[in-house]
Amino acid sequence: MRYPTNDLENHWMPFTANRDFKKNPRLVVAGRGIHYTSHTGHDIIDAVSGLFCCPAGHSRKEIADAVYEQMQELAYLPSFQHGHSAAFELARRVKQLTPGDLDYIFFTNSGSEAVETALKMAMLYHRARGDGQRMRLVGRERGYHGVNFGGFSVGGIVRNREMYGLGVPGVVHMRHTWLEENRFARGQPENGAELANDLQRFCELHGGETIAACIVEPVAGSIGCYVPPKGYLERLREICDEHGILLIFDEVITGFGRLGDNFAGQRFGVVPDLMTMAKALTNGAIPMGGVAAREHVYKTITEAAPETGIEFFHGYTYTAHPAACAAGIATLDIYENDGLFQKSAEMEDYFLDQLFAMRESNIVTDIRGIGMLGAIDLAPKDGAPGVRGGQALKDFYAAGVLVKMTADTVIVAPPFVADKSDIDRMFEIISDVVSTL
Ligand SMILES: Cc1ncc(COP(=O)(O)O)c(C=O)c1O
Repeated sequence: MRYPTNDLENHWMPFTANRDFKKNPRLVVAGRGIHYTSHTGHDIIDAVSGLFCCPAGHSRKEIADAVYEQMQELAYLPSFQHGHSAAFELARRVKQLTPGDLDYIFFTNSGSEAVETALKMAMLYHRARGDGQRMRLVGRERGYHGVNFGGFSVGGIVRNREMYGLGVPGVVHMRHTWLEENRFARGQPENGAELANDLQRFCELHGGETIAACIVEPVAGSIGCYVPPKGYLERLREICDEHGILLIFDEVITGFGRLGDNFAGQRFGVVPDLMTMAKALTNGAIPMGGVAAREHVYKTITEAAPETGIEFFHGYTYTAHPAACAAGIATLDIYENDGLFQKSAEMEDYFLDQLFAMRESNIVTDIRGIGMLGAIDLAPKDGAPGVRGGQALKDFYAAGVLVKMTADTVIVAPPFVADKSDIDRMFEIISDVVSTL
């Protein structure tokens, strides 16, 4: 351990039961490949790529070297009105991966900031077209778009919303896409495309011309891998086009090969107007997010301002931070050189076979999965949601596997560098633990 850990009091940990954790902490001292090492010396196999961040495995030397070199040359630059080569190069590289003409990349420091940025871009786009009455935003139940005010407002997870007042005004939510009849559907479920018509109903109720944007995760990740029903995203695109609404895909989890393709937009054949990304953009090594905007969005906004005027009054002190850009470029090099998106695509079937084999357990009530992303719902214990999941989180870690728990749902998203025997090992431990819960 590099630093002393005899006093844990002052770090207020996020999304953590602080008091409980500090009595019995889970500290990690190292990450290599697809393994973490705990402070007690135990090996933990990483079945969730950190937090969907590290498909190339942990502590990649290529990324560390690139960051080190960049930090010695130029460690900081004001991002407003100044530029550096790594920022332009990373934008160019990201653009090569995005679907359609999502060619203009605005960098942020997290997924939450990417969401705020995208929502503001949508508002500004309509104003720039003289259509400034479009202020409503449409989100979806059970969606997760980070924790800032815009993001939790369009998001649909009650625990993230209920304590924080009213959020931003003018937000309405479509129904989520989980359906009883789709239980244990592998890949895209057959039923539920018509749920997209909720957006059409909002257009009829509020007037389509009052809606600025509709934001969804193409596959809802944090809630537990809700795969879009066949035809659902296509229908959303259609309604948005009919009413001039911008469609935003939040690809913070699904971006960078999680579903085999570069982005989920390519996998599902639907191109949004704005697309957020983060996490795997730097393989988790340095915080970074971004928004990709289609050409018509970028041009409409920039061309509405005077030639020498600032077009978008928005940005962060650390937008396109040199270290983050260097990490991003090195990460995209690894993805390309090691063919990691292809590896992800090739492993999908094997991974989903193992995932759906968990169906045998009698406390498993549903399984969903697509690409290298999957979720297993466990029945709540004694009818109290979250209790079994809380115990499971500790038990998985103690048994040597890292997963993400959301209430009673186990979420898995293996690194793309995992081989078949690694996937076997992950599910062996998960299955053992589930049998004891
Ligand atoms: C779809 C989606 N959007 C936004 C976020 C927020 O990202 P961050 O935690 O980097 O702010 C997340 C995080 O998991 C996410 O899954």
